Amino acid sequence: MTQAADLLDPAERLDLDGLRALQLERLRNSLRHAYENVPFYRESFDKAGVHPDDCRSLSDLSRFPFTTKADLRANYPYGMFAVPRERIRRLHASSGTTGRPTVVGYTENDLSMWADMVARSLRAAGARPGDIAHIAYGYGLFTGGLGAHYGAERLGCTVIPASGGMTSRQVTLIQDLKPSVIMVTPSYMLTLLDEFERQGVDPRSTSLRVGVFGAEPWTQDMRREIEERFAIDAVDIYGLSEVIGPGVAQECVETKDGLHVWEDHFFPEVVDPITGEVLPEGEQGELVFTSLTKEAMPIVRYRTRDLTRLLPGTARVFRRMEKVTGRSDDMVILRGVNLFPTQIEEIVLRTPGVAPHFQLRLTTSGRMDALTVRAEARADADAATREAAARSIVQAVKDGIGVSVEAEIVDPESLERSVGKIRRIVDLRERRG
Ligand code: DLL
Repeated sequence: MTQAADLLDPAERLDLDGLRALQLERLRNSLRHAYENVPFYRESFDKAGVHPDDCRSLSDLSRFPFTTKADLRANYPYGMFAVPRERIRRLHASSGTTGRPTVVGYTENDLSMWADMVARSLRAAGARPGDIAHIAYGYGLFTGGLGAHYGAERLGCTVIPASGGMTSRQVTLIQDLKPSVIMVTPSYMLTLLDEFERQGVDPRSTSLRVGVFGAEPWTQDMRREIEERFAIDAVDIYGLSEVIGPGVAQECVETKDGLHVWEDHFFPEVVDPITGEVLPEGEQGELVFTSLTKEAMPIVRYRTRDLTRLLPGTARVFRRMEKVTGRSDDMVILRGVNLFPTQIEEIVLRTPGVAPHFQLRLTTSGRMDALTVRAEARADADAATREAAARSIVQAVKDGIGVSVEAEIVDPESLERSVGKIRRIVDLRERRG
């Protein structure tokens, strides 16, 4: 599919010099806005001995201090806002597994910019005005549902605000209302797949043409599985509440080669997670974002904990980020070896007889941690196939990742299904004092 040039918005048509000039101007304004209106930034910049005027080139950004989730928690709920509360039109919150959630706020202009970025993302995904878009990201404090919703409306789609859950009804809606676009987490798409099959409907026969999947890591193998089973194009959308929500970066359907970061609004850096040093393009590290135009909650050098690398633009002038490998918080260190759930996903999806549903169970065995990969058998897999699958998973993990694990092939439909972001790791380790 080619992208008609007249569908691009003006920033997507800039050349690299034009883009960098726009970014610098916006960055300087944004740093000033944060410094002048958020006591937290004033203090942290002063402590680091930097002032917004010190930012004369884009690389000067590296002199500014990082912002972390702990900083947002410490300023809960409204302490990071740079405008009077009355100018905030909407709040969202990220769940956070422990402690206080993080609250984020948007002015009228922020909401409009966000809708523009999701509309741009959808266009890059292959959606067009007039498409019917089924949104099965959760609506509510999570940014997925409403973020996708306003973006799809902005593009000119007919929106089905299905939200997450009530899986059998989702299938009915897709059958009856005939959406061409679906926006949902990849793990919930698999739950929908099961439901189509349970209802005896061929998932390849639906009206769906494009799926825009994100909010959690997923692999190329998962893309192949979803594209094949549903006969659609599956593309990746990335974002996080602290930066805006979905629509920070998006994969283009014509290249499917990583996600273009909408860096006219969100400036990316990749840093060494330990030293904080900025890494050159192409090197893997932790993704860091600085907002360039946000009013309510400007964010400076926010440590996302997401691991990826930056690459030059292809389908767009904007740099790409590679598919996220995982979050540093989701990394399991097993007897000194680092392991991400996405690495296991690749292996499970390549194993014959196994369905794309798996869970990682961490236990204590003596003084050591042990990991069991629990994967679901496909309905037609007999006992011998299951045994071979377990052996093959253990071997592939040993060969590919370099650590010994156990594998258990469980009955079809026995693992918990996702209705939103999936939890891959079940940690049953004994706490050591
Ligand atoms: O998950 C926003 C979103 C909604 C993105 C819908 C895409 C689609 P949070 O709840 O704040 O916001 O979680 C953000 O989710 O730091 C990543 O760890 C992870 N994440 C989001 N998109 C992707 C993706 C939304 N495409 C956190 N690939 C981020 C991998 C993703 N991880």
